[in-house]
Amino acid sequence: MMINVCLLGLGRTGMVVAEQLLKTTDFHLTAVFAKPHSPKAGAPLAALVNCPNDIIVHSADDLAAILETTEVNVAIDFTAPEASLKNVKIVAEHGVNVVIGTTGFNKMQIYELKNLVQRSKIGLIYAPNISLGINLLLSVVKTIARLIPHYDVEITEYHHRNKKDAPSGTALKIADAINRAKGYRTGKYTFGRKGPELRDSNEIGIHAIRAGGIVGVHQVLFAGESDEIEITHRSYSRLVFAEGALHAAKFITNRKGFYNMEEVLTESSEPEAPAAPLSLTELAE
Ligand SMILES: NC(=O)c1ccc[n+]([C@@H]2O[C@H](COP(=O)([O-])OP(=O)(O)OC[C@H]3O[C@@H](n4cnc5c(N)ncnc54)[C@H](OP(=O)(O)O)[C@@H]3O)[C@@H](O)[C@H]2O)c1
Repeated sequence: MMINVCLLGLGRTGMVVAEQLLKTTDFHLTAVFAKPHSPKAGAPLAALVNCPNDIIVHSADDLAAILETTEVNVAIDFTAPEASLKNVKIVAEHGVNVVIGTTGFNKMQIYELKNLVQRSKIGLIYAPNISLGINLLLSVVKTIARLIPHYDVEITEYHHRNKKDAPSGTALKIADAINRAKGYRTGKYTFGRKGPELRDSNEIGIHAIRAGGIVGVHQVLFAGESDEIEITHRSYSRLVFAEGALHAAKFITNRKGFYNMEEVLTESSEPEAPAAPLSLTELAE
């Protein structure tokens, strides 16, 4: 089945997602939306990415009107939290499922998203960490934290100079996952480190570097008295986010409910039910 997708946000990540959607035969990019009053709105998408000249970028102000006349199965959003929430409310009112790649939502906004899913009975993937590799890192660090809970943990993340939120949502998610794996409901986080105070044994240090064009690096250090383990995930290009977004879009088509990316990957990797063994008669045939 061809999946009709609308894309919200034509920034650095949105443009790569658009390119990937246009390259694959499983998806049909039915509409793209830029920020209202952006010079991108009204221009051909071909001015931004390599594609045929007939796709015109809409303003997000026209989202409701376009959804009324265009068939869309899934909306993918890579914008900013306030904008995303506004867009997703409109998308949900039209019964369209959503993949949210946007990061930086506060707890209240996430609560609002969950309510929206319940009220509108749509499917929504909230994926502040959309890449497969980061989700594997999460799974590995949880195992390490369970096995060596007494090791000190420090997380360092590196991103480009224009990233608006710090530390990254992914760094916080890694810290939360480590705490839960150790059996704590909440944890003490130290953001950056300055001054003479000694670290608590259970605190997690979180450090954010913003420099140049770094796509994304997350390093998790587990240090004991005599050795250390460091797990690092490096994104080479934004393609990794586009691949995750397309995977998520496929997953959420025809599903309802609120999902995170870990659930998407776990459920997609579950082996299909083994074929029933052949009967003696079938074997003889
Ligand atoms: N989940 C992940 O793994 C992952 C990976 C990468 C990025 N992200 C997140 O995705 C978001 C976008 O990242 P980015 O690097 O692409 O940022 P970006 O380059 O700043 O792009 C954001 C885009 O959203 C547009 N926008 C703002 N309001 C809008 C609205 N109401 N409707 C439609 N478009 C709107 C902006 O338009 P203007 O250009 O006109 O301002 C801009 O083009 C950020 O929250 C980022 O942290 C998540």
